[in-house]
Amino acid sequence: IALPSSPPALYPEWFSPSPRNILPDLKLPKGFIFGVATAAYQVEGAAKNEGKGPSIWDWNSRQPGGVIDNTTGDVVDLQYYLYKQDVARVAAIGVNAHSFSISWARIFPFGTADSPVNQAGLDHYSDVIDSHIQAGVGPIVTLFHWDTPLALQAYYGGFTSPRIVDDFVNYAKTVFRAFNGRVKTWYTFNEPRVYCGFISGYPFNQTLTPGVNSSMAPYHCVYNLLRAHAGAVKAFRAMNISGEISFKNDDFVGPPWRANSTEDIEAAERHTAFRIGVLSDPVYATGDWPKIMTDTLPPEYLPRFTEEEKKDLLGSADFYAIDSYRAQYVSAPTDGLEACVSNPSHPLWPDCNVVQLFDTNGWAVGPSPDPLSQAWLQATPNLLRPYLRELQRRWPTKKMASRYITEFGFVEPFEQLRTELFRITEDVTRTNYFMTYLGEILLAIHEDKLPIAGIFAWAMIDNAEWSSGTSARFGIQHVNYTTLERTYKRSALSLSEFFKVHLSD
Ligand code: NOJ
Repeated sequence: IALPSSPPALYPEWFSPSPRNILPDLKLPKGFIFGVATAAYQVEGAAKNEGKGPSIWDWNSRQPGGVIDNTTGDVVDLQYYLYKQDVARVAAIGVNAHSFSISWARIFPFGTADSPVNQAGLDHYSDVIDSHIQAGVGPIVTLFHWDTPLALQAYYGGFTSPRIVDDFVNYAKTVFRAFNGRVKTWYTFNEPRVYCGFISGYPFNQTLTPGVNSSMAPYHCVYNLLRAHAGAVKAFRAMNISGEISFKNDDFVGPPWRANSTEDIEAAERHTAFRIGVLSDPVYATGDWPKIMTDTLPPEYLPRFTEEEKKDLLGSADFYAIDSYRAQYVSAPTDGLEACVSNPSHPLWPDCNVVQLFDTNGWAVGPSPDPLSQAWLQATPNLLRPYLRELQRRWPTKKMASRYITEFGFVEPFEQLRTELFRITEDVTRTNYFMTYLGEILLAIHEDKLPIAGIFAWAMIDNAEWSSGTSARFGIQHVNYTTLERTYKRSALSLSEFFKVHLSD
Protein backbone atom coordinates (compact mmCIF):
# COMPACT_ATOMS: atom_id res chain seq x y z
CA ILE A 1 0.00 0.00 0.00
CA ALA A 2 1.36 3.38 -0.99
CA LEU A 3 0.72 5.93 1.72
CA PRO A 4 0.29 9.60 0.90
CA SER A 5 3.73 10.97 0.19
CA SER A 6 3.90 13.85 2.61
CA PRO A 7 3.58 13.20 6.31
CA PRO A 8 0.79 15.17 7.90
CA ALA A 9 1.55 18.48 9.51
CA LEU A 10 0.97 18.48 13.23
CA TYR A 11 -2.59 19.54 13.90
CA PRO A 12 -2.59 21.09 17.33
CA GLU A 13 -6.31 20.49 17.71
CA TRP A 14 -5.86 16.79 17.01
CA PHE A 15 -2.72 16.20 18.99
CA SER A 16 -1.92 15.86 22.61
CA PRO A 17 1.33 14.46 23.89
CA SER A 18 1.14 10.91 25.04
CA PRO A 19 1.79 10.61 28.76
CA ARG A 20 4.97 8.73 29.35
CA ASN A 21 4.39 8.36 33.06
CA ILE A 22 1.61 6.82 35.01
CA LEU A 23 0.19 10.10 36.38
CA PRO A 24 -0.22 8.64 39.87
CA ASP A 25 -2.02 11.66 41.28
CA LEU A 26 -4.93 11.49 38.88
CA LYS A 27 -7.82 9.50 40.30
CA LEU A 28 -10.66 7.98 38.38
CA PRO A 29 -14.14 9.24 39.29
CA LYS A 30 -16.02 7.54 42.10
CA GLY A 31 -17.82 4.41 40.96
CA PHE A 32 -15.59 4.03 37.89
CA ILE A 33 -15.88 0.58 36.38
CA PHE A 34 -12.78 -1.55 35.83
CA GLY A 35 -14.31 -4.23 33.67
CA VAL A 36 -13.45 -7.14 31.45
CA ALA A 37 -15.51 -8.35 28.49
CA THR A 38 -16.41 -11.60 26.72
CA ALA A 39 -19.12 -12.89 24.38
CA ALA A 40 -21.08 -16.15 24.57
CA TYR A 41 -19.92 -17.81 21.33
CA GLN A 42 -16.31 -16.84 21.97
CA VAL A 43 -15.94 -18.35 25.46
CA GLU A 44 -18.82 -20.61 26.45
CA GLY A 45 -18.33 -23.86 24.57
CA ALA A 46 -21.01 -26.42 25.46
CA ALA A 47 -22.52 -25.53 22.10
CA LYS A 48 -24.88 -28.50 22.06
CA ASN A 49 -25.55 -28.79 25.78
CA GLU A 50 -28.62 -28.17 27.91
CA GLY A 51 -30.99 -27.54 25.06
CA LYS A 52 -29.07 -24.87 23.16
CA GLY A 53 -29.96 -24.55 19.49
CA PRO A 54 -27.28 -23.94 16.85
CA SER A 55 -26.30 -20.39 15.99
CA ILE A 56 -24.98 -19.05 12.69
CA TRP A 57 -21.48 -19.27 14.15
CA ASP A 58 -21.88 -22.97 14.87
CA TRP A 59 -22.61 -23.15 11.15
CA ASN A 60 -20.05 -20.64 9.87
CA SER A 61 -17.25 -22.30 11.82
CA ARG A 62 -17.97 -25.57 10.04
CA GLN A 63 -17.79 -24.18 6.51
CA PRO A 64 -14.59 -24.67 4.55
CA GLY A 65 -12.53 -21.52 5.01
CA GLY A 66 -14.97 -20.17 7.59
CA VAL A 67 -12.41 -20.01 10.39
CA ILE A 68 -8.69 -19.96 9.59
CA ASP A 69 -7.70 -22.59 12.15
CA ASN A 70 -11.04 -24.47 12.13
CA THR A 71 -11.87 -23.50 15.71
CA THR A 72 -15.54 -24.08 16.50
CA GLY A 73 -17.44 -22.82 19.52
CA ASP A 74 -17.96 -26.39 20.75
CA VAL A 75 -15.47 -26.21 23.62
CA VAL A 76 -13.22 -23.11 23.53
CA ASP A 77 -12.91 -21.93 27.16
CA LEU A 78 -15.84 -23.97 28.43
CA GLN A 79 -16.91 -20.94 30.42
CA TYR A 80 -20.43 -22.37 30.31
CA TYR A 81 -19.23 -24.68 33.10
CA LEU A 82 -16.20 -22.81 34.44
CA TYR A 83 -17.82 -19.41 35.03
CA LYS A 84 -17.46 -19.47 38.81
CA GLN A 85 -13.71 -19.91 38.58
CA ASP A 86 -13.47 -17.28 35.85
CA VAL A 87 -15.40 -14.77 37.91
CA ALA A 88 -13.27 -15.50 40.99
CA ARG A 89 -10.07 -15.03 38.98
CA VAL A 90 -11.03 -11.55 37.79
CA ALA A 91 -12.44 -10.56 41.19
CA ALA A 92 -9.03 -11.48 42.62
CA ILE A 93 -7.27 -8.85 40.51
CA GLY A 94 -9.75 -6.10 41.35
CA VAL A 95 -12.09 -6.26 38.35
CA ASN A 96 -15.50 -4.94 39.37
CA ALA A 97 -17.63 -5.76 36.32
CA HIS A 98 -17.88 -8.37 33.58
CA SER A 99 -19.63 -7.56 30.34
CA PHE A 100 -20.83 -10.85 28.80
CA SER A 101 -23.52 -11.84 26.36
CA ILE A 102 -26.46 -14.19 26.51
CA SER A 103 -26.78 -16.71 23.73
CA TRP A 104 -30.19 -16.20 22.11
CA ALA A 105 -30.19 -19.83 20.94
CA ARG A 106 -29.88 -21.01 24.55
CA ILE A 107 -33.09 -19.19 25.46
CA PHE A 108 -34.94 -19.78 22.16
CA PRO A 109 -33.31 -22.77 20.44
CA PHE A 110 -35.58 -22.19 17.43
CA GLY A 111 -35.42 -18.42 17.66
CA THR A 112 -38.99 -17.41 16.90
CA ALA A 113 -41.38 -15.83 19.39
CA ASP A 114 -43.86 -18.67 19.01
CA SER A 115 -41.27 -21.39 19.67
CA PRO A 116 -40.59 -22.88 23.12
CA VAL A 117 -38.38 -21.22 25.73
CA ASN A 118 -35.52 -23.36 27.02
CA GLN A 119 -35.81 -23.09 30.80
CA ALA A 120 -32.36 -24.66 31.29
CA GLY A 121 -30.86 -21.68 29.47
CA LEU A 122 -32.66 -19.16 31.68
CA ASP A 123 -31.65 -21.10 34.81
CA HIS A 124 -28.05 -21.15 33.66
CA TYR A 125 -27.76 -17.40 33.17
CA SER A 126 -29.64 -16.81 36.39
CA ASP A 127 -26.87 -18.62 38.23
CA VAL A 128 -24.19 -16.86 36.19
CA ILE A 129 -25.67 -13.52 37.24
CA ASP A 130 -25.96 -14.50 40.91
CA SER A 131 -22.38 -15.79 40.94
CA HIS A 132 -21.16 -12.44 39.66
CA ILE A 133 -23.10 -10.52 42.26
CA GLN A 134 -21.79 -12.76 45.05
CA ALA A 135 -18.22 -12.23 43.87
CA GLY A 136 -18.64 -8.44 43.71
CA VAL A 137 -18.29 -8.40 39.92
CA GLY A 138 -21.19 -6.51 38.38
CA PRO A 139 -22.96 -8.53 35.67
CA ILE A 140 -23.41 -6.49 32.49
CA VAL A 141 -25.55 -8.21 29.88
CA THR A 142 -25.50 -7.93 26.09
CA LEU A 143 -28.50 -9.57 24.44
CA PHE A 144 -26.91 -10.11 21.06
CA HIS A 145 -23.24 -10.58 20.33
CA TRP A 146 -23.44 -11.91 16.76
CA ASP A 147 -24.71 -15.46 17.38
CA THR A 148 -28.08 -15.38 15.59
CA PRO A 149 -30.08 -18.60 16.07
CA LEU A 150 -29.40 -20.62 12.93
CA ALA A 151 -33.10 -21.39 12.61
CA LEU A 152 -33.85 -17.72 11.97
CA GLN A 153 -31.13 -17.44 9.36
CA ALA A 154 -32.38 -20.50 7.54
CA TYR A 155 -36.07 -19.65 7.96
CA TYR A 156 -36.18 -16.03 6.82
CA GLY A 157 -32.61 -14.76 6.34
CA GLY A 158 -31.90 -13.53 9.87
CA PHE A 159 -31.40 -9.78 10.10
CA THR A 160 -32.02 -9.24 6.40
CA SER A 161 -35.70 -9.83 7.15
CA PRO A 162 -38.05 -7.47 9.03
CA ARG A 163 -39.42 -10.57 10.75
CA ILE A 164 -36.40 -10.56 13.06
CA VAL A 165 -37.72 -7.47 14.83
CA ASP A 166 -40.60 -9.15 16.69
CA ASP A 167 -38.58 -12.25 17.43
CA PHE A 168 -35.75 -10.21 18.92
CA VAL A 169 -38.10 -8.02 20.97
CA ASN A 170 -39.81 -11.11 22.33
CA TYR A 171 -36.44 -12.64 23.27
CA ALA A 172 -35.39 -9.37 24.90
CA LYS A 173 -38.59 -9.20 26.96
CA THR A 174 -38.11 -12.78 28.14
CA VAL A 175 -34.61 -11.98 29.37
CA PHE A 176 -35.60 -8.62 30.93
CA ARG A 177 -38.40 -10.33 32.85
CA ALA A 178 -36.14 -13.13 34.08
CA PHE A 179 -33.26 -10.98 35.32
CA ASN A 180 -34.90 -7.66 36.19
CA GLY A 181 -33.35 -6.11 39.28
CA ARG A 182 -30.16 -8.13 39.18
CA VAL A 183 -28.54 -6.53 36.13
CA LYS A 184 -27.84 -2.81 36.25
CA THR A 185 -26.45 -2.26 32.76
CA TRP A 186 -27.85 -3.77 29.58
CA TYR A 187 -26.87 -3.70 25.94
CA THR A 188 -29.17 -4.75 23.14
CA PHE A 189 -26.55 -5.21 20.39
CA ASN A 190 -22.80 -5.52 20.11
CA GLU A 191 -21.14 -3.60 17.25
CA PRO A 192 -24.02 -3.70 14.74
CA ARG A 193 -21.95 -2.30 11.90
CA VAL A 194 -19.36 -5.02 12.21
CA TYR A 195 -22.03 -7.69 12.49
CA CYS A 196 -23.98 -6.53 9.47
CA GLY A 197 -20.92 -5.70 7.39
CA PHE A 198 -18.84 -8.79 7.98
CA ILE A 199 -19.67 -11.14 10.78
CA SER A 200 -23.20 -12.04 9.84
CA GLY A 201 -21.65 -13.84 6.93
CA TYR A 202 -23.33 -11.87 4.11
CA PRO A 203 -22.48 -12.79 1.48
CA PHE A 204 -20.55 -15.69 3.04
CA ASN A 205 -23.75 -17.10 4.46
CA GLN A 206 -26.08 -16.58 1.55
CA THR A 207 -29.39 -17.10 3.33
CA LEU A 208 -31.09 -13.90 2.28
CA THR A 209 -34.62 -12.61 2.31
CA PRO A 210 -36.36 -12.52 -1.12
CA GLY A 211 -35.72 -9.18 -2.77
CA VAL A 212 -32.51 -8.62 -0.85
CA ASN A 213 -29.21 -9.47 -2.51
CA SER A 214 -25.90 -9.82 -0.78
CA SER A 215 -24.74 -6.28 -1.51
CA MET A 216 -27.94 -4.81 -0.06
CA ALA A 217 -27.93 -7.22 2.87
CA PRO A 218 -25.68 -5.23 5.23
CA TYR A 219 -27.94 -2.18 4.92
CA HIS A 220 -31.13 -4.15 5.43
CA CYS A 221 -29.46 -5.80 8.37
CA VAL A 222 -28.59 -2.48 10.02
CA TYR A 223 -32.11 -1.20 9.33
CA ASN A 224 -33.84 -4.19 10.90
CA LEU A 225 -31.34 -4.33 13.74
CA LEU A 226 -31.94 -0.69 14.65
CA ARG A 227 -35.68 -1.27 14.70
CA ALA A 228 -35.17 -4.34 16.88
CA HIS A 229 -33.02 -2.23 19.20
CA ALA A 230 -35.65 0.51 19.44
CA GLY A 231 -38.38 -2.08 20.02
CA ALA A 232 -36.43 -3.74 22.82
CA VAL A 233 -35.67 -0.42 24.52
CA LYS A 234 -39.33 0.60 24.24
CA ALA A 235 -40.29 -2.67 25.95
CA PHE A 236 -37.55 -2.20 28.59
CA ARG A 237 -39.01 1.18 29.50
CA ALA A 238 -42.66 0.05 29.32
CA MET A 239 -41.85 -2.89 31.59
CA ASN A 240 -40.08 -0.58 34.04
CA ILE A 241 -36.97 -2.69 34.03
CA SER A 242 -34.41 -1.28 36.44
CA GLY A 243 -31.02 -0.10 35.24
CA GLU A 244 -29.72 1.53 32.10
CA ILE A 245 -29.72 0.35 28.50
CA SER A 246 -27.77 1.14 25.34
CA PHE A 247 -25.94 -0.65 22.53
CA LYS A 248 -22.21 -1.03 21.90
CA ASN A 249 -21.06 1.01 18.93
CA ASP A 250 -17.65 0.58 17.31
CA ASP A 251 -14.93 2.30 15.33
CA PHE A 252 -13.48 5.81 15.53
CA VAL A 253 -13.75 9.39 14.40
CA GLY A 254 -10.45 10.03 12.63
CA PRO A 255 -8.90 13.34 11.63
CA PRO A 256 -8.05 14.01 7.98
CA TRP A 257 -4.53 12.89 7.07
CA ARG A 258 -3.79 16.26 5.47
CA ALA A 259 -5.53 19.02 7.41
CA ASN A 260 -5.71 21.37 4.42
CA SER A 261 -6.90 18.84 1.85
CA THR A 262 -10.59 19.10 0.96
CA GLU A 263 -10.56 15.49 -0.26
CA ASP A 264 -9.19 14.21 3.02
CA ILE A 265 -11.60 16.33 5.05
CA GLU A 266 -14.53 14.96 3.03
CA ALA A 267 -13.22 11.42 3.31
CA ALA A 268 -12.99 11.80 7.08
CA GLU A 269 -16.61 12.98 7.19
CA ARG A 270 -17.75 10.02 5.09
CA HIS A 271 -15.78 7.71 7.30
CA THR A 272 -17.49 9.08 10.40
CA ALA A 273 -20.94 8.94 8.82
CA PHE A 274 -20.70 5.39 7.51
CA ARG A 275 -18.85 3.90 10.42
CA ILE A 276 -20.22 5.65 13.52
CA GLY A 277 -22.95 8.03 12.39
CA VAL A 278 -24.88 5.15 10.80
CA LEU A 279 -25.91 4.09 14.31
CA SER A 280 -25.31 7.25 16.35
CA ASP A 281 -27.38 9.67 14.28
CA PRO A 282 -30.58 7.57 14.46
CA VAL A 283 -30.25 6.95 18.20
CA TYR A 284 -28.62 10.11 19.56
CA ALA A 285 -29.08 12.93 17.04
CA THR A 286 -31.86 12.90 14.47
CA GLY A 287 -33.72 9.60 14.51
CA ASP A 288 -32.53 9.16 10.93
CA TRP A 289 -29.56 8.03 8.84
CA PRO A 290 -26.69 10.47 8.23
CA LYS A 291 -27.53 12.64 5.24
CA ILE A 292 -24.46 11.45 3.32
CA MET A 293 -25.89 7.93 3.41
CA THR A 294 -29.35 8.83 2.14
CA ASP A 295 -27.76 11.03 -0.52
CA THR A 296 -25.63 8.12 -1.72
CA LEU A 297 -27.77 5.04 -1.30
CA PRO A 298 -31.17 4.39 -2.89
CA PRO A 299 -33.96 3.01 -0.67
CA GLU A 300 -33.62 -0.50 -2.14
CA TYR A 301 -30.24 -0.51 -0.46
CA LEU A 302 -30.85 1.64 2.56
CA PRO A 303 -34.50 1.34 3.62
CA ARG A 304 -35.88 4.63 4.98
CA PHE A 305 -37.41 4.95 8.44
CA THR A 306 -41.06 5.95 8.88
CA GLU A 307 -41.85 8.93 11.09
CA GLU A 308 -42.93 6.60 13.86
CA GLU A 309 -39.74 4.57 13.62
CA LYS A 310 -37.72 7.77 13.85
CA LYS A 311 -39.56 8.70 17.03
CA ASP A 312 -38.85 5.32 18.56
CA LEU A 313 -35.19 5.44 17.61
CA LEU A 314 -34.35 8.91 18.82
CA GLY A 315 -33.36 8.69 22.48
CA SER A 316 -33.42 4.90 22.53
CA ALA A 317 -30.25 4.70 24.63
CA ASP A 318 -29.53 5.97 28.13
CA PHE A 319 -25.84 6.58 27.50
CA TYR A 320 -23.17 6.22 24.84
CA ALA A 321 -21.08 3.04 24.66
CA ILE A 322 -18.17 2.56 22.29
CA ASP A 323 -15.68 -0.19 21.58
CA SER A 324 -12.69 1.99 20.82
CA TYR A 325 -9.74 -0.21 20.08
CA ARG A 326 -7.91 2.20 17.83
CA ALA A 327 -7.92 5.58 16.13
CA GLN A 328 -6.41 6.54 12.81
CA TYR A 329 -6.08 9.30 10.29
CA VAL A 330 -8.36 9.19 7.29
CA SER A 331 -7.34 10.04 3.75
CA ALA A 332 -9.13 10.24 0.42
CA PRO A 333 -8.64 7.21 -1.79
CA THR A 334 -5.53 7.29 -3.89
CA ASP A 335 -4.42 4.92 -6.60
CA GLY A 336 -3.96 1.45 -5.34
CA LEU A 337 -5.69 2.11 -2.07
CA GLU A 338 -9.02 0.69 -1.11
CA ALA A 339 -12.07 2.76 -1.92
CA CYS A 340 -15.46 1.59 -1.05
CA VAL A 341 -18.85 3.28 -0.44
CA SER A 342 -20.78 2.00 -3.33
CA ASN A 343 -18.52 -0.94 -3.80
CA PRO A 344 -20.81 -3.90 -3.13
CA SER A 345 -17.97 -6.03 -1.89
CA HIS A 346 -17.34 -3.55 0.90
CA PRO A 347 -20.74 -2.56 2.19
CA LEU A 348 -20.75 -0.20 5.11
CA TRP A 349 -17.28 0.96 4.27
CA PRO A 350 -16.95 4.57 3.26
CA ASP A 351 -15.01 5.79 0.32
CA CYS A 352 -11.77 6.46 2.11
CA ASN A 353 -8.61 4.97 3.50
CA VAL A 354 -7.30 4.81 6.96
CA VAL A 355 -3.63 5.37 7.37
CA GLN A 356 -1.25 4.63 10.14
CA LEU A 357 1.05 7.25 11.56
CA PHE A 358 4.11 6.62 13.64
CA ASP A 359 5.05 9.98 15.06
CA THR A 360 7.76 11.23 17.33
CA ASN A 361 5.33 12.71 19.81
CA GLY A 362 3.62 9.58 20.87
CA TRP A 363 3.42 5.88 20.74
CA ALA A 364 1.94 4.12 17.77
CA VAL A 365 1.77 0.48 16.82
CA GLY A 366 0.88 -1.58 13.83
CA PRO A 367 0.14 -2.70 11.33
CA SER A 368 1.44 -5.65 13.21
CA PRO A 369 4.43 -7.41 11.64
CA ASP A 370 2.77 -10.62 12.76
CA PRO A 371 0.97 -12.25 9.82
CA LEU A 372 -1.32 -14.09 12.20
CA SER A 373 -2.21 -10.95 14.12
CA GLN A 374 -4.97 -8.49 13.40
CA ALA A 375 -4.15 -5.99 10.68
CA TRP A 376 -7.00 -3.67 11.69
CA LEU A 377 -5.53 -3.13 15.13
CA GLN A 378 -3.60 0.04 14.45
CA ALA A 379 -3.71 2.01 17.63
CA THR A 380 -2.55 5.60 17.65
CA PRO A 381 -2.89 6.77 21.24
CA ASN A 382 -2.35 10.41 20.32
CA LEU A 383 -5.63 10.30 18.44
CA LEU A 384 -7.65 8.77 21.25
CA ARG A 385 -8.54 11.93 23.15
CA PRO A 386 -9.42 14.01 20.09
CA TYR A 387 -11.58 11.14 18.91
CA LEU A 388 -13.40 10.83 22.24
CA ARG A 389 -13.91 14.61 22.31
CA GLU A 390 -15.42 14.40 18.84
CA LEU A 391 -17.81 11.69 19.97
CA GLN A 392 -18.93 13.84 22.87
CA ARG A 393 -19.32 16.91 20.67
CA ARG A 394 -21.29 15.15 17.97
CA TRP A 395 -23.43 12.86 20.07
CA PRO A 396 -23.82 14.16 23.60
CA THR A 397 -26.13 11.82 25.43
CA LYS A 398 -29.25 13.28 26.88
CA LYS A 399 -30.56 11.26 29.80
CA MET A 400 -27.26 10.42 31.42
CA ALA A 401 -24.01 12.08 30.64
CA SER A 402 -21.99 8.93 30.89
CA ARG A 403 -20.11 7.04 28.23
CA TYR A 404 -18.40 3.73 28.56
CA ILE A 405 -15.43 2.35 26.66
CA THR A 406 -17.05 -1.05 26.36
CA GLU A 407 -14.07 -2.79 24.81
CA PHE A 408 -10.44 -2.06 24.17
CA GLY A 409 -7.65 -4.55 23.72
CA PHE A 410 -4.78 -5.79 21.65
CA VAL A 411 -3.14 -8.87 20.21
CA GLU A 412 0.43 -9.47 21.34
CA PRO A 413 2.51 -9.95 18.18
CA PHE A 414 3.79 -13.50 17.81
CA GLU A 415 2.20 -14.66 21.06
CA GLN A 416 0.69 -17.70 19.35
CA LEU A 417 4.10 -18.76 18.09
CA ARG A 418 5.63 -18.87 21.58
CA THR A 419 5.72 -22.22 23.28
CA GLU A 420 6.81 -21.73 26.89
CA LEU A 421 4.18 -20.33 29.20
CA PHE A 422 6.62 -17.88 30.83
CA ARG A 423 7.19 -16.28 27.42
CA ILE A 424 3.55 -16.32 26.40
CA THR A 425 2.51 -14.50 29.55
CA GLU A 426 5.11 -11.72 29.04
CA ASP A 427 2.79 -9.72 26.79
CA VAL A 428 4.75 -6.49 26.81
CA THR A 429 3.20 -4.96 23.71
CA ARG A 430 -0.32 -5.52 24.97
CA THR A 431 0.68 -4.17 28.37
CA ASN A 432 2.12 -1.03 26.74
CA TYR A 433 -1.06 -0.64 24.77
CA PHE A 434 -3.23 -0.83 27.89
CA MET A 435 -1.05 1.47 29.98
CA THR A 436 -0.64 4.13 27.30
CA TYR A 437 -4.32 4.02 26.49
CA LEU A 438 -5.27 4.32 30.15
CA GLY A 439 -2.93 7.28 30.58
CA GLU A 440 -4.85 8.99 27.78
CA ILE A 441 -8.13 8.09 29.47
CA LEU A 442 -6.96 9.75 32.71
CA LEU A 443 -6.21 12.91 30.73
CA ALA A 444 -9.51 12.66 28.84
CA ILE A 445 -11.30 12.64 32.18
CA HIS A 446 -9.21 15.30 33.92
CA GLU A 447 -8.29 17.68 31.13
CA ASP A 448 -11.04 17.18 28.57
CA LYS A 449 -13.70 16.64 31.27
CA LEU A 450 -15.18 13.73 29.40
CA PRO A 451 -17.69 11.79 31.50
CA ILE A 452 -16.12 8.36 31.01
CA ALA A 453 -17.74 6.05 33.54
CA GLY A 454 -15.91 2.78 32.95
CA ILE A 455 -13.65 0.82 30.66
CA PHE A 456 -13.61 -2.87 29.73
CA ALA A 457 -10.57 -4.85 28.67
CA TRP A 458 -11.14 -7.25 25.82
CA ALA A 459 -10.78 -9.93 26.76
CA MET A 460 -11.15 -11.53 30.17
CA ILE A 461 -9.48 -14.67 28.73
CA ASP A 462 -8.21 -15.92 25.38
CA ASN A 463 -11.14 -16.98 23.21
CA ALA A 464 -12.44 -17.75 19.73
CA GLU A 465 -11.77 -14.61 17.68
CA TRP A 466 -14.49 -15.28 15.09
CA SER A 467 -12.93 -16.17 11.71
CA SER A 468 -9.43 -15.98 13.24
CA GLY A 469 -10.30 -18.75 15.68
CA THR A 470 -8.06 -19.20 18.69
CA SER A 471 -5.00 -18.10 16.68
CA ALA A 472 -5.58 -14.50 17.67
CA ARG A 473 -5.29 -14.32 21.43
CA PHE A 474 -6.87 -11.21 22.92
CA GLY A 475 -6.95 -12.45 26.54
CA ILE A 476 -5.38 -10.84 29.56
CA GLN A 477 -5.29 -14.44 30.74
CA HIS A 478 -3.82 -17.29 28.77
CA VAL A 479 -5.95 -20.37 28.13
CA ASN A 480 -4.32 -23.72 27.50
CA TYR A 481 -6.77 -25.27 25.04
CA THR A 482 -5.77 -28.79 26.02
CA THR A 483 -6.12 -28.52 29.79
CA LEU A 484 -8.31 -25.38 29.85
CA GLU A 485 -6.04 -24.00 32.55
CA ARG A 486 -6.04 -20.20 32.86
CA THR A 487 -2.89 -18.15 33.61
CA TYR A 488 -2.69 -14.39 34.18
CA LYS A 489 -0.57 -12.55 31.66
CA ARG A 490 1.54 -9.55 32.59
CA SER A 491 -1.16 -7.28 31.17
CA ALA A 492 -3.72 -8.57 33.69
CA LEU A 493 -1.40 -7.82 36.58
CA SER A 494 -0.51 -4.39 35.20
CA LEU A 495 -4.18 -3.53 34.80
CA SER A 496 -4.73 -4.64 38.36
CA GLU A 497 -1.89 -2.37 39.58
CA PHE A 498 -3.12 0.54 37.50
CA PHE A 499 -6.60 0.40 38.97
CA LYS A 500 -5.26 -0.08 42.50
CA VAL A 501 -3.49 3.26 42.09
CA HIS A 502 -6.20 5.16 40.25
CA LEU A 503 -9.60 3.97 41.47
CA SER A 504 -11.10 6.28 44.10
CA ASP A 505 -11.96 4.75 47.46
C1 NOJ B 1 -15.00 -6.52 19.23
C2 NOJ B 1 -15.96 -7.64 19.31
O1 NOJ B 1 -17.08 -7.24 20.05
C3 NOJ B 1 -15.37 -8.91 19.87
O2 NOJ B 1 -16.28 -9.95 19.71
C4 NOJ B 1 -14.05 -9.18 19.22
O3 NOJ B 1 -13.51 -10.38 19.66
C5 NOJ B 1 -13.12 -8.04 19.51
N1 NOJ B 1 -13.66 -6.85 18.90
C6 NOJ B 1 -11.71 -8.24 19.00
O4 NOJ B 1 -11.72 -8.28 17.63
